[in-house]
Amino acid sequence: MKRVFSGVQPTGNIHLGNYLGALRQFVELQEDNQCIYCIVDMHAITVPQDPETLRKHTLDVAALYLAIGIDPKKSIVFVQSDVSGHAELSWILTCSSYTGELSRMTQFKDKSKNKESAPAGLFTYPILMAADILLYDTDVVPVGNDQKQHIELCRDIAGRINSRFPDTFVMPEGRFLKAGARIMALDDPTKKMSKSAENIHSRISLLDEPSKIKKSIMKATTDSEGVIRFDAENKPGISNLLNIYSVLSGITVEDLEKRYKGSGYGTFKKDLVDVTVEALAPIKARYEEIRSSQMLIDTLKDGAERADAIAQKTMTRVKENFGLGLK
Ligand code: AMP
Ligand code: TRP
Repeated sequence: MKRVFSGVQPTGNIHLGNYLGALRQFVELQEDNQCIYCIVDMHAITVPQDPETLRKHTLDVAALYLAIGIDPKKSIVFVQSDVSGHAELSWILTCSSYTGELSRMTQFKDKSKNKESAPAGLFTYPILMAADILLYDTDVVPVGNDQKQHIELCRDIAGRINSRFPDTFVMPEGRFLKAGARIMALDDPTKKMSKSAENIHSRISLLDEPSKIKKSIMKATTDSEGVIRFDAENKPGISNLLNIYSVLSGITVEDLEKRYKGSGYGTFKKDLVDVTVEALAPIKARYEEIRSSQMLIDTLKDGAERADAIAQKTMTRVKENFGLGLK
């Protein structure tokens, strides 16, 4: 069995991009692998957070994990800050990382753009992510395409340390989905769908009401050609909608193009509203039930204990290799 690890930040508004690009694979993978799914609250504080809101969002994401079908009997679900090994390993990895490679991270460049200075945590964010992964001897990391660069950095750091201290870390691999790997914003299909965009109609959150889903899809930016055809370069809007439709329904993009030959964007969008509402309804129903239950807290506590047991083993090995602490 392979070890799988992934994490999502508790910053609210888990959207269709998160679900189709990353979370969806989490559920599939738990059948044949040992999966560990984390709510990365320490990554969230790389930008200022209101404490109450952060704690609420942490539980929101945990409930959503379970609502989409992550089964705590099969997988470990826990909160990052409950396992101290993440911060500890992160420091050790920081000492084997270079400011040059961190400066090349596009996410850091984007997030620090137009700012006079950026928090150091935003700069070292990918190292904490590498620690998350390496702490659990992870083989496979299912993530959205936007995390490719961070995974590469994690591998670089692991390789560098392994060449000095052989067999310290398992070399992880990213797992990126082709279809749905990059869901674009509905109002501007040249940007990726994001949690933080101001316009709420730029995204569909997994817990949106049907009326909101309808409004966002009907308003989605398309083009003036009026032909339902996949062409990401020249028709990014309709291509994004075709992609979403295809992944949610399991119908290939080609079959959708055939089905909607001669139809207008309005008809296509109306059908997409139905497909989306239908796909999200059961998730929403389960979520409401789980979010208010004691079972959620118990699951996270149990998950943290199980994760910590694995993390401690890794930390013992790492510290020994680096000559840290007493033998
Ligand atoms: P984040 O919202 O940054 O915490 O991302 C959680 C997961 O969702 C990561 O694996 C991301 O790669 C993935 N993700 C975020 N936005 C998108 C998007 N627009 N399309 C596809 N995947 C995404
Ligand atoms: N950086 C990831 C994101 O923004 C979240 C994350 C943190 C993560 N640690 C991780 C993903 C470890 C996979 C593995 O989406």
